[in-house]
Amino acid sequence: MKPFPQHLLSITDLTRAQINALIDFSQPFLDLSRDDIRKASTMRGKTVINLFFENSTRTRSSFEIAGKRLSADVINISASMSAVQKGETLMDTGQTLAAMRPHVVVVRHGDSGSCHFLAKHTQGTSIVNGGDGAHEHPTQVLTDLLTLKNAWGDVKGKVITIVGDIKHSRVARSHLLAAKIMGYSVRVVAPKTLLPLHIEKMGCDVFHRFEDAIVGSDCIYMLRIQNERLKTNCSFPSIREYHEAYGLNMARFKLASDALILHPGPMNRGVEITSDVANHAQSQVLNQVENGVAMRMAILSTLCGLEAL
Ligand code: CP
Repeated sequence: MKPFPQHLLSITDLTRAQINALIDFSQPFLDLSRDDIRKASTMRGKTVINLFFENSTRTRSSFEIAGKRLSADVINISASMSAVQKGETLMDTGQTLAAMRPHVVVVRHGDSGSCHFLAKHTQGTSIVNGGDGAHEHPTQVLTDLLTLKNAWGDVKGKVITIVGDIKHSRVARSHLLAAKIMGYSVRVVAPKTLLPLHIEKMGCDVFHRFEDAIVGSDCIYMLRIQNERLKTNCSFPSIREYHEAYGLNMARFKLASDALILHPGPMNRGVEITSDVANHAQSQVLNQVENGVAMRMAILSTLCGLEAL
């Protein structure tokens, strides 16, 4: 297997063998996280900085718990509490933190390409993309692949239908790239206004009517509308009409009732998904969250050159 890269900026930084190795490496961390004593010492002496310029519940807290469970020193910096508020640039912020010699800096930023920019302009630390604009969210997709592999055994040949605001979704984009690496197919369902131009060139099947896509799906992956990235409020007539056309309700779910239901969170219940579906036994939403900690333990360990618990 090729050595792991220094940074994790895009899912395409990883080969299929490396993704499978991270999934395998996550399994003992899942076990550790279910023990009474949820602590190992493998990352003692390692420093992790979470640098978040956008809101987050899952990504930020799972990286923090992941580091702390392995005894790393973890600090959290949010833009609202940092010198960014005094006019410091992204590059100066990144170089200042890198000068404190952390082993890993996890970055979430509203601008696509910001993590690549920091990786280029800092030295001696690993940069992890915790979500950059509408570009990519590789650690979410690795978490999803762990969830799906543990449910199915293998994702190869499966059909994942991603529904909602594809245009602004970094998760959708990372899945479209991961599908080519891992050998699963992706269907996308959205109004034309919430699809990127030429999306079909990314190798997916495009649908505008939810019912046409759902039959034959192994996984229905729901997305929220990324209101923070919408330039106007004209992408669909109203939330009610969006829900009627693109919301996952029980009637639609029954068209593929063996499918797993995934959502990266945060969910907007009653908009893209109804509560009865979100709480259904096939829903993996909380498994995704639990697996997110184990996968991030595997990612941090791997980037620090640690390969065993
Ligand atoms: N899935 C995800 O990135 O969630 P958060 O925004 O809460 O981190």
